[in-house]
Amino acid sequence: MVMRNLTMISLFFLLGPWFWAQEVPNDLLSADFHKGRRQEVRKAMPPNSVAVFFAAAVRNRANDVDYVYHQDPDFYYLTGYREPNALLLLFSEMQKDKDGGQYNEVLYVQKRDERAEQWNGKRLGMEGVKGQLGFERAFNAEEFLNSDIDFSKFGNVMFFDFKNDFRDTKGPADKFDLIRAFKEKTNYPTDYDATKQQLYSMIKATELENSANVAQTLGRYLNYYQELRSDTLLVDFVEAKDDRSRTEIREKVALQLQSNNLNSAKLEEIMNTLREIKTQEELVLLKKAVEISAVGQIEVMKAMHPNMSEMEIQGVHEFVYKKYGAEYEGYPSIVGSGNNGCILHYIENNRPKVGNDLVLMDLGAEYHGYTADVTRTIPANGKFSKEQKQIYDIVYRAQEAGIKASVVGASFQAPGEAASEVVAQGLVQLGIIGSPGEARKYFPHGTSHYLGLDVHDKGTYQPFKENTVITVEPGIYIPEGSDCDKKWWGIAVRIEDDILITKNGPVNLSEMAPRTTEAIEAVMKESSPLDHFKLPSLD
Ligand code: GLY
Ligand code: MN
Ligand code: MN
Repeated sequence: MVMRNLTMISLFFLLGPWFWAQEVPNDLLSADFHKGRRQEVRKAMPPNSVAVFFAAAVRNRANDVDYVYHQDPDFYYLTGYREPNALLLLFSEMQKDKDGGQYNEVLYVQKRDERAEQWNGKRLGMEGVKGQLGFERAFNAEEFLNSDIDFSKFGNVMFFDFKNDFRDTKGPADKFDLIRAFKEKTNYPTDYDATKQQLYSMIKATELENSANVAQTLGRYLNYYQELRSDTLLVDFVEAKDDRSRTEIREKVALQLQSNNLNSAKLEEIMNTLREIKTQEELVLLKKAVEISAVGQIEVMKAMHPNMSEMEIQGVHEFVYKKYGAEYEGYPSIVGSGNNGCILHYIENNRPKVGNDLVLMDLGAEYHGYTADVTRTIPANGKFSKEQKQIYDIVYRAQEAGIKASVVGASFQAPGEAASEVVAQGLVQLGIIGSPGEARKYFPHGTSHYLGLDVHDKGTYQPFKENTVITVEPGIYIPEGSDCDKKWWGIAVRIEDDILITKNGPVNLSEMAPRTTEAIEAVMKESSPLDHFKLPSLD
């Protein structure tokens, strides 16, 4: 018996981490899902093209501590791989290797390394991605550095702009090394400017009848990004007086684009189109993230009292997320009480007591990659004051109008237009503004964005399609010192729900979290397990 145990133990040490199977959640996206997505990318690729995707870089926080790693959402969508230092190649047609083997995709991953895994966690390695993620062809990333892949034979080498968002670390094949190798292999011009390429591609793709509009939009863009004004083709297009001149510039732009086979525009378009529409498998995870976040809001409503700090409130939400196994928050949590709620992306969350103010809580659990984005605004003492309720009810009605407008075929702007009208009328009625045109002062942001792997997810901004998920999130923010009666100062309200667009109309995925003032006040009267959670005073 002892001997057998000893044999088992020594076997364990010999095989070490190579042997033990780590328990992981059993509801991750399936290998088939990722495979299907890769197939969809291939279908949308131009003939004779290759698409190159890089995993997100590791980012250093300080000294030997890195930021918590998070995979690039496109990379995750296409592979399920959640480690850094990796590269995916997709080919529009089958390729042949020297031995006659055929393939249309290759994944390069970080090499297994017993010592590194002891310190920083298990790696899947080539065998793991073959076995668990279903890749037929996988190599260690170092092999890409010396691979003889001939990028010049492709009509299009598609990739995302690198944005200089990485740096060289000690590893032999980190993102820096992989990008350097990619640039060498593709004869990447030293002055390559991805933004310019994207704008050129947009000009090239523009129909003549739409070119004056596009020129106008581009003009606004150039005003914002002054450095682009040194490009004569872009400036000429904006300043062109007629269709003939615009056509001439389009021809010149097309020639420029042909000067090499690098294409940093097309993948954006492909991924925007794919990721906008969620598959049923994605919706299961997205709904779960939203429900977890809604439960967080409910538990906070029960636990809330005026002596709580903003940070403590944030902690309660995030504790609920972790309890359900949500790995991350989808974005930094926003908990702003009173005037702090007027800062749209307030993430300091450091006010020691929320007092009798409204507390605006905009948080989202990220569950297996998919993030929620839910906002509730509640009175810390459990009862809306008259003024708080008046503002709240306008935002509520605006949101109802916005949700109602979120239907298949409506323009992406429809929820915003509907909500803005209600907010403007409401503010005029309360005498906070003199005319509807002033409403933007107190409602300065958009009403909707796509939701999915990113909180501001990818999409086409075309009329709504079935199985798209968006937020509807109107708000009114009246900072101290605003040009209106003092009684409104410091009131900030945002209500945000996550809406699935279906052919039968909008479905509110976050409806579990109470939204009307009456429902919120009722839940706030309920007791909370945290009522009895007392920690020792450390003063
Ligand atoms: N939480 C960021 C947003 O609502 O868009
Ligand atoms: Mn949002
Ligand atoms: Mn939000």
